[in-house]
Amino acid sequence: MAKMATSMVETGEDAFRKIFKLYKRRNPPPDFSDVIDFSKGVPSDKIIPAKLDPAAVSDVEAARVGLQPVRNWRAFGLQGYQGFIFISNPFLLGSQSFWVRQCLKTYPQKPNVCNLDMHMSPSDTQDIWGKSVHSLSLPPSGKRQPKTLLERLRWVTLGYHYNWDTKTYSANHYSPFPADLHSLSYQVTTACGFSGFNAEAGILNYYRSDSSLGIHVDESELDHSQPLLSFSFGQSAIFLLGGIHRQDPPTAMYMHSGDMMVMSGQSRLLYHAVPCIVPAPQGQTALEIEGCSQDSSLLNSTVVVPVSGEDWVLCSRYIQSSRVNVTVRQVLGPGQSFPETPPLHQRNDARC
Ligand code: OGA
Ligand code: MN
Repeated sequence: MAKMATSMVETGEDAFRKIFKLYKRRNPPPDFSDVIDFSKGVPSDKIIPAKLDPAAVSDVEAARVGLQPVRNWRAFGLQGYQGFIFISNPFLLGSQSFWVRQCLKTYPQKPNVCNLDMHMSPSDTQDIWGKSVHSLSLPPSGKRQPKTLLERLRWVTLGYHYNWDTKTYSANHYSPFPADLHSLSYQVTTACGFSGFNAEAGILNYYRSDSSLGIHVDESELDHSQPLLSFSFGQSAIFLLGGIHRQDPPTAMYMHSGDMMVMSGQSRLLYHAVPCIVPAPQGQTALEIEGCSQDSSLLNSTVVVPVSGEDWVLCSRYIQSSRVNVTVRQVLGPGQSFPETPPLHQRNDARC
């Protein structure tokens, strides 16, 4: 009986929504035993090894962006999801802290755009880190304090800034894409066998322990021949990977700190969602996510540099209860440009 109910949930109409709600539920907590955990390396008929191109990225190039030699990466595919690659934390010890610091301190800075800009002036959102650091460094007072800007940060956009209302990117809403994240993305895609990936847009999502991300597909980019990349830091997430139709039943997997996903080919336009955030596995607390030990390969690094103890205090405190996800997208194909929008006076919807 129970078995039949499950298979109806999985194959019936709107199976994705039902499974999303199931994992989002708090009381009683859902059964996580079917969630794929790539970090455990458990054999399964669904998990297949992914082929990388270790010769395409030298050990020095990998280390410069904080990554282990590509031959040491543990990369997987999933049966039935051609073009999907999951890389289980390929970062060098000590380098995730750099990327966490970039996500919390550097990338939210102007001229990048964040959710706080929607209802605050640029001067008020000028220095989110600086305005938050003092009160986040104080010991908890017991009294309810107003939330800091960093605690209210939900998203940041980089490069071609995503317009959430029109679901489009445009030529005139652009700021230079961060060179360090461009390099990381380039090395990861190269190791996965893609050539010439050009990181043009980024969306950072900041999740608290009760956050989720609804079912969606990322199709606003004008070129879908290049992969979509996803990097995660801090607490873990349940990630649901569905099909080309919104209702298709999804596969559930954990995304832990340092894990990466590459969605390409037939998996580039699959529906997906994050129904819940779950605590990072034991032994993957902030201390291990770093700060203490730094891999000696990082000595060669020019992109990834050590994070000061002062910055790390705040970063490690933040990721003890939060998750940061970075998606990187190429928007335009080689030689492609945005479609011309006619000047206002030529449009038939022009008002004056
Ligand atoms: C996104 C996205 C997934 C995640 O930003 O488009 O799907 O793991 N993020 O947070
Ligand atoms: Mn997405």
